[in-house]
Amino acid sequence: MKLQPVHRARRFFATFRRHRTNPASEAPLLAPLTASERELFDRYSPYDRRHALEVAAAVHRHGPGASADWVPRAALLHDIGKTVSDPATLTRVVATILDWFGFGSQAGRWSESSGIVKTIGLYLRYQEIGAELLEEAGSDPRVVAWALEHHSPESLWTVPVAQGRVLAAADDGMLD
Ligand SMILES: [Fe+2]
Ligand SMILES: [Fe+2]
Repeated sequence: MKLQPVHRARRFFATFRRHRTNPASEAPLLAPLTASERELFDRYSPYDRRHALEVAAAVHRHGPGASADWVPRAALLHDIGKTVSDPATLTRVVATILDWFGFGSQAGRWSESSGIVKTIGLYLRYQEIGAELLEEAGSDPRVVAWALEHHSPESLWTVPVAQGRVLAAADDGMLD
């Protein structure tokens, strides 16, 4: 996997915003989740929860073109693999830098380790872990696939490209 530095930098500065959310405006965004998906969603840290809701809200505002039923669920759950490691912001930055310098291939070994090395290893594998969690939860195969593919080049996507583009733009804060 590759955690793009620009994407990560934007997310790094976003961590300093407040994570307060509005239950009334969240309810319609969360409505498409199945019971087991909601159980997963509720494991998000406040920061990742806010990001997931922002992506879902952007996709929702985008309109009917993005309204295939799996799309809002993919928006809400694409980063769910982060719930297994849930590293501090600085650790996320270190992991991203290590990945950028080509150490991502060590993630499998690191995730079997302990302490901060294990946390970094798990974080670098979060897309794969997210896909496993969603598969266990019985999610739509496209929701599972998007958790795995959302930082991959478009040429490697198995999800429909038009909807993948909407989800990717929303994830990067570029949809509005
Ligand atoms: Fe992601
Ligand atoms: Fe994301």
